[in-house]
Amino acid sequence: MSAILGTASDASGAHLRDRDAIDVTHGQILYLEDVEVSFDGFRALRGLSLMLANNELRCIIGPNGAGKTTMMDVITGKTRPDKGTVFLGQTLDLTKMDEASIAQAGIGRKFQKPTVFENHTVWQNLDLARATDKRWFRALRAKPSPAALRAIDDTLQRTALTGVAHRAAGELSHGQKQRLEIGMLLMQEPRLLLLDEPAAGISDDETMQLAELLNSLRGTCSMMVVEHDMAFVAALAGEQGRVTVLAEGSVLAEGTLAQVQSDERVIESYLGR
Ligand SMILES: Nc1ncnc2c1ncn2[C@@H]1O[C@H](COP(=O)(O)OP(=O)(O)OP(=O)(O)O)[C@@H](O)[C@H]1O
Ligand SMILES: [Mg+2]
Repeated sequence: MSAILGTASDASGAHLRDRDAIDVTHGQILYLEDVEVSFDGFRALRGLSLMLANNELRCIIGPNGAGKTTMMDVITGKTRPDKGTVFLGQTLDLTKMDEASIAQAGIGRKFQKPTVFENHTVWQNLDLARATDKRWFRALRAKPSPAALRAIDDTLQRTALTGVAHRAAGELSHGQKQRLEIGMLLMQEPRLLLLDEPAAGISDDETMQLAELLNSLRGTCSMMVVEHDMAFVAALAGEQGRVTVLAEGSVLAEGTLAQVQSDERVIESYLGR
């Protein structure tokens, strides 16, 4: 597998991902075609096809049970599709890779519930996330290099957590924890970030702060954001960004937010509820 991913070793022996392993020469970072997933005969994904351009920020909306989380499970290797094509760039067939290799290839995923180390400080959480060698004893022992210290500082600034860097993560607000978890993902330098309802359960102010953070990441990685909060979606999509509507396991509509919001089928299946 390491040959496929083109991993290399740094001075500390930790494995570094070769970022060039993802071939985006045709402009697409993610390619799904005709993906099918069934659970005991229930078809959660039905011929799902979707493409994401490199460095695009795509919002995905759609009713409960539409298959949004299942789609992320397929992309991250948690669920194997029964049928269909799932590629990262031109060359990496995600249906043939396990979850660890997919993460290693540069896909970071944020689940709805933040998973930070509550008893560690914000700074320590970022430091632990940085360690590419997951053997914990090495992660705890390895002294951060000057470059690593800079990366932690940059991430603290980007996530607006510098002021709470030395507070225990358990003391943070829900919105701050969400930003910390995104910061932890950023420490791995992802090429594609998948975020499943990141604004769920956080205050309006923190929701807008989260939108600002994701907008600031434009150009550094591709993002797929599943969300029900339409103010948040509007803040991310703007007037030009593409929004995909999933319903009953496939794409119901795709276009600018204004376009999908005025689509009769979208209003009927989702917005008009
Ligand atoms: N492991 C599973 N076993 C059985 N059914 C499942 C499983 N995972 C998902 N489903 C079903 O597949 C369908 C799609 O679920 P999914 O969680 O992907 O929807 P979603 O679009 O993320 O919805 P929500 O907006 O509520 O998060 C649902 O009907 C769900 O009950
Ligand atoms: Mg879901």
